[in-house]
Amino acid sequence: MTLAALNAPVDLGKSHLCIIGQQRLEGELHVNGAKNSALTLMAASVLSHEPVRLRNMPDLTDIGAMAQILVSLGMGFHLEGSSAVLRGGGLTRHDPSYDLTRKLRASFFLIGPLVARHGVAKVPLPGGCRIGSRPVREHSKGLQAMGARISMESGVVSAEAQGNHGRLQGCPIHLDYPSVGATETLMMAAALAEGETVLHNAAQEPEVVDLAGLLKAMGARIQGAGSSTIKISGVKELHGADYAVIPDRVEAGTFLIAAAATRSRLHVTPVETSHLSAVLAKLEAMGCSISPQGQGLTITTPGQLRGCEVRTQPFPGFPTDLQAPFMALLSIAQGDSFVTETVFENRLQHVAELQRMGAQIRTNGNAALVKGVPMLSGVPVTGTDLRAAAAMVIAGLVADGVTHVSGLEHLDRGYTRLEERLQAVGARISRIDATRTALLAA
Ligand code: UD1
Repeated sequence: MTLAALNAPVDLGKSHLCIIGQQRLEGELHVNGAKNSALTLMAASVLSHEPVRLRNMPDLTDIGAMAQILVSLGMGFHLEGSSAVLRGGGLTRHDPSYDLTRKLRASFFLIGPLVARHGVAKVPLPGGCRIGSRPVREHSKGLQAMGARISMESGVVSAEAQGNHGRLQGCPIHLDYPSVGATETLMMAAALAEGETVLHNAAQEPEVVDLAGLLKAMGARIQGAGSSTIKISGVKELHGADYAVIPDRVEAGTFLIAAAATRSRLHVTPVETSHLSAVLAKLEAMGCSISPQGQGLTITTPGQLRGCEVRTQPFPGFPTDLQAPFMALLSIAQGDSFVTETVFENRLQHVAELQRMGAQIRTNGNAALVKGVPMLSGVPVTGTDLRAAAAMVIAGLVADGVTHVSGLEHLDRGYTRLEERLQAVGARISRIDATRTALLAA
């Protein structure tokens, strides 16, 4: 492949990644701190007047967006290398603007700590990826059970603690669905409530356990995080803390899937194996060999990749966030694979793009039958959401020819300088910056 291939026709009005496929990768990929944990831990820092230092923070646009929201409420925020220091002493506001919150779903989780700290919070309905309806009923219902009056006007949800000097009351709460965000919102609210809150049918995701870790380091009393029943005994005040974010299991999973798809030997580190057991089991069933080494995992694929069946589920089931990247892998595995998305109702948008690259996929509602093909072909594609964009990068690494992946505004929400990190292990991938290209042409 020559450099001329990089100039294949593509909408240069958009920044995109240009990938020359079919390169074997080799070496080590470092996994950053978990985006979804970091965002929630940032929200939790609202609960204290004292500084909270978060280490191992990923450098992502979503983190910048959350920092902007917190600063707009009066919080202090500054970065020291990969640590962030959040100072809640100056927090005066409880009403983040729609302009800032619409960028990310996790902004809504602020409603819990804001109402716990101020007795009142007004938070716009959330933005984030367009992968389904993303309701917030479980969050509101739980806060209501704790004594908050909930109302909605012009897309803004208001929560106001009634009586008891603006303090929420602990109580038993049963979630109809083990929503990650609702579990986290209610844990944060309950940490400063009066009395005991018991969350039944709580989410068991590692990010929930990480949140409990930070809250406990701040002086909260929490038991059972990581199981379906979490008990929180409210305290009057939380203090500052110094806490490290867990490694990103979705980023680690994306790297392992990329290694399998390109038949590469890669060391991915650090990885908490128990956070990825459902994904590792599927990769092994497909023919990958995965062994622990130091803090991470080394993956190789000695033989043929075989198709398999994947059904997304809440943790410890197969994560919905890796369904799209995994489908890129299945599209070149031998035989038939079946994928069922059970968590979000609109999370198969990558199928059409994979089909354009030659993948044989038939969908029926939220299920897909993938008939493995020997090869994908490089074409211009779009990542329609964060994880769909990661799937397109994996497909591009595998494909014959040049793949141009646009939708980088989604990709950059969850992966730090992905192209530079893949380049370092041998991928031929570069970023074409549309703003720069336009300036040079002018
Ligand atoms: C979090 C993650 C996201 C991941 C998802 C599921 C963050 C910032 N994002 O999103 O990357 O894909 O968990 O692992 O942490 N639901 C209800 N009622 C509610 C809330 C949710 O029915 O009140 C449903 C949703 O429609 C969806 C399912 O629950 O079908 C999962 O959503 P949820 O666990 O809440 O995901 P998030 O916390 O938004």
